[in-house]
Amino acid sequence: MALPFAVLISGRGSNMLALERATRDGRIDGRITAVISDRADAAGLDVARGLGIAVTVVAPTPDEGRGAYGRRLADAVASSEAALVALAGFMRILDTDFVRAWQGRLLNIHPALLPAYRGLHTHRRALAAGEARHGCTVHFVVEELDAGPAVIQGRLAVRPGEDEAALSARVQRLEHIVYPRAVGWFAAGRLQCRDGVAWIDGHPAGPVVVEEEV
Ligand code: GRF
Repeated sequence: MALPFAVLISGRGSNMLALERATRDGRIDGRITAVISDRADAAGLDVARGLGIAVTVVAPTPDEGRGAYGRRLADAVASSEAALVALAGFMRILDTDFVRAWQGRLLNIHPALLPAYRGLHTHRRALAAGEARHGCTVHFVVEELDAGPAVIQGRLAVRPGEDEAALSARVQRLEHIVYPRAVGWFAAGRLQCRDGVAWIDGHPAGPVVVEEEV
């Protein structure tokens, strides 16, 4: 049976779109049951509406703590009847209860080669450090930020003189390849998170590496 999953966004939603396309062409045996955003003005919401996907906005209210917000978010996800939650540019730190409830069924895409460059402004920081290699990581989410088991990475060589916008665009192209692949494995029952490790077909993922084609 096709895996029902929810996608959480805050912005453009290009990864959400990549996931949706993969459900349509069979790379993911699943369907997006809801696109949920913390921002009513997230551009990705219109993309989702255009695709006929149910959208829900769970905007934080003033003075709302992380726990109270997390409970409302959990309610929205529960009503979508999702069996997997895919974070795709969702710019809020999830509260502990939410992460625990969804542990092993909660994936994120991060724009860096974790464990390097957790947090924000990853491209800028990688360029400033003169990194030769950069990319993105799909990982299971654990309580510690950007620290969960890595499933798959898209890797590229930073080009001489490349600026942040150019690097970001190249990393995003890799994101749109590796995220559908990870969700496709999960939907096929091939990907699990056990003992703090991501397993694919019974082997530690490692993570799997996809190199940019040049
Ligand atoms: C991506 O770069 C992802 O790595 C990061 O947020 C960005 C979301 O982009 N977590 P989009 O909204 O999917 O276009």
